[in-house]
Amino acid sequence: MQVDGRPTRSCVTPVGSVRGQKVTTLNGLGTAARPHPLQTAYIAEQVPQCGYCISGWMLTAAALLRDTPRPSDTQIRQALAGIKCRCGTHMAILRAVKRAAGSKA
Ligand code: FES
Repeated sequence: MQVDGRPTRSCVTPVGSVRGQKVTTLNGLGTAARPHPLQTAYIAEQVPQCGYCISGWMLTAAALLRDTPRPSDTQIRQALAGIKCRCGTHMAILRAVKRAAGSKA
């Protein structure tokens, strides 16, 4: 999730600690009619496997692209460091973030 636009790990964040702040989940990133460029890129790159990790990756990458619209590979890797995908989709995720960075939102 994002809390006031900051990527935040929901699994270690008590709900009471975000009282009064804007919380954005994957459902708030885009809509079916107007998906976020990352959502479009994830589909194009066939990223999701089980999908368990997708919220963390996508909301962190969305914050990166908002703050750094054309990130380098190093910036992408640094922003996403520490997030794990048990299904091993890391390279597809990197391609999707780069694809989204190249799109016109
Ligand atoms: S898609 Fe399964 S853990 Fe990432």
